[in-house]
Amino acid sequence: MQPRVSAAREIRKIVVINGKGGCGKTTVSTNLATWYAQRGFHPALFDHDPQTSSMRWLKGRGPDHPPIHGVSVLTRQKLGVTRSWQLRMPSETRRLISDTPAGLAGLEIPDHIRGADCVLIPVLPSSIDIEAGADFIRDLLLLGRVRSTGVRIGIVANRIKQHTVAFQALERFLRSLKIPVVARFRDTQAYVHAAEQGLGIHELKTGGTIRKEIHEWNKLFDWIESEPIRNNG
Ligand SMILES: Nc1ncnc2c1ncn2[C@@H]1O[C@H](COP(=O)(O)OP(=O)(O)OP(=O)(O)O)[C@@H](O)[C@H]1O
Ligand SMILES: [Mg+2]
Repeated sequence: MQPRVSAAREIRKIVVINGKGGCGKTTVSTNLATWYAQRGFHPALFDHDPQTSSMRWLKGRGPDHPPIHGVSVLTRQKLGVTRSWQLRMPSETRRLISDTPAGLAGLEIPDHIRGADCVLIPVLPSSIDIEAGADFIRDLLLLGRVRSTGVRIGIVANRIKQHTVAFQALERFLRSLKIPVVARFRDTQAYVHAAEQGLGIHELKTGGTIRKEIHEWNKLFDWIESEPIRNNG
């Protein structure tokens, strides 16, 4: 399914979050942004991380590629710029992607998912990461009250080499909570090469070698776009 840009000012907000560091939040956020940019959704990429990895990535993006509006949220807050996310975007923006820092816990979680249409949680296939991911999902469900607000949650299994025993355990846990695994991304240097150039992997000129990977991304976008945009003010 190829989503169409709506004429109305509708903004879908996608939050990429997991308290665990290094699980792929920035990789997923930047690749989402490039996919939407290529399809005319004029994405805004909000970087909430003091390390500003998404903004560093964006600086490497050349003028030949569709632009992405970057916002370093902490820098702007320091400068006293408004906290309202809608006011910080160009009028043509149709998708907002929010990259969040590692270490979020407790009441910081609901703060970051406010107004979201969907929440993506990248999880790496090691037992430590899976346990941390499961704890994070419990906090999200409890503190973020996502069930009652209607925000959709999807797990992104990242850097999968094979179906590990640990990951099968996570999948059982997720099934019991009715949380889908919406994409499974391989461990591939294509992500590293793309990141070095301010690109998404589908913008690399690598021929058919990442076709399966692109198929997973299309599945993810189908899932994100399968529901109407919430009126998230
Ligand atoms: N599927 C993948 N295949 C290969 N390398 C990957 C993949 N996903 C992420 N990486 C690499 O892993 C490292 C960590 O990824 P990333 O920065 O996206 O994680 P993060 O969750 O944003 O980290 P942090 O918590 O520090 O913000 C990066 O060097 C990135 O290029
Ligand atoms: Mg990051």
